[in-house]
Amino acid sequence: MMKHSATIALVTGAGHGIGRAIAERLGREGAALGIIDLDAAAGARTVADLQAEGIRAHFVAADITQYDQVDAAVAEIVRALGPITLLVNNAAFTEAGNLATITLAQWDKEIEVNLSGTYHMIRAVVPILQARGGGAIVNISSVNGMRYFGNPSYSAAKAGLLNLTQSVASEYGKFNIRCNAISPGSVKTDNITWTIRQQKDPDIFKKLSKWYPLGRVAEPDDIAKAVSFLGSDDAAYITGANLPVDGGLTAGMSVMIDEFVLESPKE
Ligand SMILES: NC(=O)c1ccc[n+]([C@@H]2O[C@H](COP(=O)([O-])OP(=O)(O)OC[C@H]3O[C@@H](n4cnc5c(N)ncnc54)[C@H](O)[C@@H]3O)[C@@H](O)[C@H]2O)c1
Repeated sequence: MMKHSATIALVTGAGHGIGRAIAERLGREGAALGIIDLDAAAGARTVADLQAEGIRAHFVAADITQYDQVDAAVAEIVRALGPITLLVNNAAFTEAGNLATITLAQWDKEIEVNLSGTYHMIRAVVPILQARGGGAIVNISSVNGMRYFGNPSYSAAKAGLLNLTQSVASEYGKFNIRCNAISPGSVKTDNITWTIRQQKDPDIFKKLSKWYPLGRVAEPDDIAKAVSFLGSDDAAYITGANLPVDGGLTAGMSVMIDEFVLESPKE
């Protein structure tokens, strides 16, 4: 029996990047996949590719900032696949740089998509998990939610997501619903921010590697593996946690320490 053969997963933002990698991994491990994405063409492409591999999958185009669209999309996915057992809140948006330059509209949009959108998903899916006797939620946050790495509005939303994770875990544990967060560092995707940075510097991912004790930035599947674990029975007693999947970025200040600690291990 495959690890996720009893899983009916709903993954938001699986049209691109990390969300797509999560859908592929869960699907290859036996899960049926419901997918919600704002980008109708990309979401449909992910579902067609999953189906071509023999994975049960259903796509609904929806904007997670609109709770009525979310409610309708969740209902359609349940009709198509059955009651959801695992919700992965992955969809996100960011573009703003820093506090000096951000506009009010940018601030509002980043909080709306990254925090309120995730809340809309949780609000719609929790009653389904409750009715079937439990399930799991994994929220994709970021190291930006833990420390300062730029993008203040995105970071505030991602920090809010860590606290929301704890609220859901605390209030719904009695219904056997687990809720955890994953905080990735830099992940090689072609999202809008990385595309702009790569246009400025094609070696950006290589240059960033020095900040990561494991010597590289993440591949999308590094995050998908952690989602698969937290969404499975192997994590049956884990709830309310934030798992940094960041190659050690937030473990310390290794680049700074290398500059003055003589006993630091050398190659
Ligand atoms: N890539 C990184 O370096 C990195 C680092 C830390 C955390 N993360 C987090 O990982 C997750 C995925 O990131 P990614 O790099 O794959 O992003 P991405 O931009 O490639 O994909 C995000 C997906 O979400 C969808 N989406 C955006 N707004 C939406 C909305 N309102 N409603 C529905 N769908 C919407 C997009 O269409 C897209 O398919 C996000 O939560 C992001 O914050 C990414």
